[in-house]
Amino acid sequence: MESAILKKGDIFELTITDFADKDRCFGRLDNGMGVMVSGMLAPGDRVRVLVRRVKQRFIDAQALQVVEGSPDRVEPKCGYFGVCGGCKLMHVTYEAQLRYKKKKVADDLEHIGGFVDPPVELVVPAHSPVHYRNKVEFSCSSIRYLLPEELPLEQLDRPKDFALGFHAPGNFEKVLDIDYCYLATDRMNDLLRLTRLFALEHHLAPYAVKAHEGYLRNLMLRSSMHSGEIMVNIVTSWYDAKLMKQYADFLAEALPEERLTVVNNVTAKKNTVATGDYEYTIQGSGSLTESLGSLDFRVSANSFFQTNTRQAEVLYDEIIKVAGLRDDDTVYDLYCGTGTITLYLARHCRQAVGIEVVESSLRDAAMNASMNGIANADFFQADLKDFQALLQRLSQYEAPGVIVTDPPRAGMHPKALETMIRLGARRIVYVSCNPSNLARDGREICRNGYRLVSVQPVDMFPHTVHVESVACFERIAQ
Ligand SMILES: C[S@@+](CC[C@H](N)C(=O)[O-])C[C@H]1O[C@@H](n2cnc3c(N)ncnc32)[C@H](O)[C@@H]1O
Repeated sequence: MESAILKKGDIFELTITDFADKDRCFGRLDNGMGVMVSGMLAPGDRVRVLVRRVKQRFIDAQALQVVEGSPDRVEPKCGYFGVCGGCKLMHVTYEAQLRYKKKKVADDLEHIGGFVDPPVELVVPAHSPVHYRNKVEFSCSSIRYLLPEELPLEQLDRPKDFALGFHAPGNFEKVLDIDYCYLATDRMNDLLRLTRLFALEHHLAPYAVKAHEGYLRNLMLRSSMHSGEIMVNIVTSWYDAKLMKQYADFLAEALPEERLTVVNNVTAKKNTVATGDYEYTIQGSGSLTESLGSLDFRVSANSFFQTNTRQAEVLYDEIIKVAGLRDDDTVYDLYCGTGTITLYLARHCRQAVGIEVVESSLRDAAMNASMNGIANADFFQADLKDFQALLQRLSQYEAPGVIVTDPPRAGMHPKALETMIRLGARRIVYVSCNPSNLARDGREICRNGYRLVSVQPVDMFPHTVHVESVACFERIAQ
């Protein structure tokens, strides 16, 4: 099929070869022209597609029908697949998900980073593709997102004006009322059900973001995979001590064998973010203890903590493996959060230095260091775009032999990247949750005297499109 003769409204058949961005898949015409196709498809599908737009470099199309399904397809376990935005790969085998994630990392390194045949290893699979999250955040809304099968019905079996679950994709107002999430533990699902029951029985008004009114905003659940403790964090628009006591008692009575702590985050802000300006501890200690390897960490409601405990251990072990630390090394850990990687590193070097912008995370980091009896880890608060200015304060330490960097999805600020490279560490270990930005920053690192030695992707989030990678760069001897 020649793209030159295709126009809007034409229909043709195409074989899908790849997943692409924004819920789209990709295929090619015989003449090499790319076709981006929307719809829940899988590589290997043969589909009939409708042309929506013919662009200069590709065709934008909509899937009409899968003529022949890919051999990678499986029946998604979850009834909300395709409606909830979470598990976008649940319709293909786990093995195919891992293949796709490796290809995504390698393709980005080649096409964005300009690396030829990059050394990308097979993705380390997750211990379990389900029930792996140690934290889930549900939202509450006064507008329930109706399932397609509910739209023609006159009588609905649950209210339209209350929902506790996940935001419908791209919709900040409507929430899909969820009964069960496969990524959460069974206990978390019990707590979701119990909270909905309590809210409906007590007529708690769900928060309406546009009108900025209502009481119940979010339900955030954390579970320690090691100690078994569970944290229930209910986010509301104001504090009602009596009601919160009733809620905590209700949960304790329903789940008497669980070690629950209940906290109430309160905010009057006009947003849907699950953090409060004030926090009240209703029951228990208000935090829980999680372990990574042989280290223990206190995690409170609003601290950042890796959401897949077992895979975080795999990721951190990989960092240690490729960092090639020496006993007398000073190591910098950029974007250190609560210092989990810093403390891992500290056991293998003379001095570890963590740098992070969020003050509360640094307080947790310092506490975690003392809780684990680690005296050779120091922490500094800084926005890493001002890394250069911080160097003065870091001059008390030897120059870093190794630098570990774990930036947020957007990658490193160009100034932070430039300063990091100029420090001339023997190795740079770049931990990334976004292969495109790893490729962009990796290209810059290699333009400035380093070579890419290895890239180990780790699957922290089965059934989702996300992939974490540990890339090791080595300074080229001069
Ligand atoms: C992907 S997390 C890494 C956390 C940590 N390494 C871990 O494994 O738990 C990125 C961290 O970078 C921090 N951060 C974001 N922007 C920053 C900036 N401009 N300067 C310093 N830290 C920043 C965030 O607060 C967050 O803790």
